[in-house]
Amino acid sequence: MWGGRFAEGPAAVMREINASIPFDKRMWRQDIAASKAHVAMLATQGVVAQEDAAAISAGLDTVAADYEANGVPDDLTLEDIHMLSEAKLAAAIGPVAGRLHTARSRNDQVATDFRLWVRDAIDQTRTALAALDAALLARAEQHAGDVMPGFTHLQSAQPVTLGHHLMAYHEMIARDATRFADARARMNLCPLGSAALAGTGFPLDRHATAAALGFDGPTRNSLDAVSDRDFAIEYLTAAAQCSLHLSRLAEEFVLWASQPFGFVALSDQWSTGSSIMPQKRNPDAAELVRGHAGRITGCLVSLMVTMKGLPLAYSKDMQDDKPPVFECHDLLGLSIAAMTGMIESATFRTDRMRALAESGYATATDLADWLVREANVPFREAHHITGRAVARAEALAVTLDQVPLADLKAIDPRIDDRVYSVLSVDASVASRTSFGGTAPDNVRAAIRAARGE
Ligand code: ARG
Repeated sequence: MWGGRFAEGPAAVMREINASIPFDKRMWRQDIAASKAHVAMLATQGVVAQEDAAAISAGLDTVAADYEANGVPDDLTLEDIHMLSEAKLAAAIGPVAGRLHTARSRNDQVATDFRLWVRDAIDQTRTALAALDAALLARAEQHAGDVMPGFTHLQSAQPVTLGHHLMAYHEMIARDATRFADARARMNLCPLGSAALAGTGFPLDRHATAAALGFDGPTRNSLDAVSDRDFAIEYLTAAAQCSLHLSRLAEEFVLWASQPFGFVALSDQWSTGSSIMPQKRNPDAAELVRGHAGRITGCLVSLMVTMKGLPLAYSKDMQDDKPPVFECHDLLGLSIAAMTGMIESATFRTDRMRALAESGYATATDLADWLVREANVPFREAHHITGRAVARAEALAVTLDQVPLADLKAIDPRIDDRVYSVLSVDASVASRTSFGGTAPDNVRAAIRAARGE
């Protein structure tokens, strides 16, 4: 394609380091679509004759059908998907194929194809996130009133409901979905027509190609259009953030599935056994979701570091933009799907959660709050009194609501038997009615709001 000025072909290693076909063939659909939009516009503008454009367009369909049926060959001599498709087009329709590349460079071509690919990836990710979110909402609804220990420092802190805990992840996932949507809105401009870097003298209608490919319009600066990859970095940023959320949820599943916690039993479908220890049910999928977050973050860092020192406009370093984006998309897709499956099929051990919520003096704050409210005790003093009540419960080896009134009165005579109404874990969660709080009715309202009801 560019051999006119050369007497010798490239060294074998040059060919190999230069070739992106082994990975960029994933963009073949986008490449064909962009070429068809380009040639249709060239014909409308009178740059290419109508019959040549028709032949090229039909030829591109033939190439696409061939890829669909036989896959895309790893032909290193043709460097990349753009050259391969053009070579295949020429093989199918002859020299008229050479008119396709009029007023176009691989620089605007690859920038366009890659935007289309990332846009598709974002759409797929948002569909997958919607399924994950639906699973979270369903399980949260089922467990809106089931008490579990809430933790800070992984120490039993205050009782919450399992529904509330799951809805925390709904919030994170919903924000992640908006980050993908934002990235999509910003990237949805078409580089085609920027040519190599300076634009072109041919009378293109860039608005037409942009519209044909579903873009909101053409990019505004040809140098920027062929040389920036911030759209890919933004996608990776949204993906990395999302993977961090998935990783925290996965980590909780790993913890919760352990024997000391026993909060969740993963279904057989989402567990693996051990080849030596017959009793094992390992949460491998959750561990891999946690692990994948590291790799996805690596993808983001990889592209940021690739881009950081590049002068305008295109440099071949930018060919390295695709592997981290493709890898990220695969890893994130698996992670979201696995998390969805685990959530849908897990059995939450609500009896165990309740028992631990009741055993950890998790309603100590409720006792302190009661002293403030009913006995007008300053909070700091109430905190101290409650600390002594907890110590007494510990000494008696009972829960806080099992400490006899006489013992409580011995600690502070202002305590009376009304206090027991706030010391149960159910009373505690039911009292947390502040907006965004864990009261079961709040959780149900949050679920309805999330569903747009
Ligand atoms: N395979 C190249 C890439 O992915 C296409 C652009 C090549 N442009 C060039 N001027 N060599 O970036």
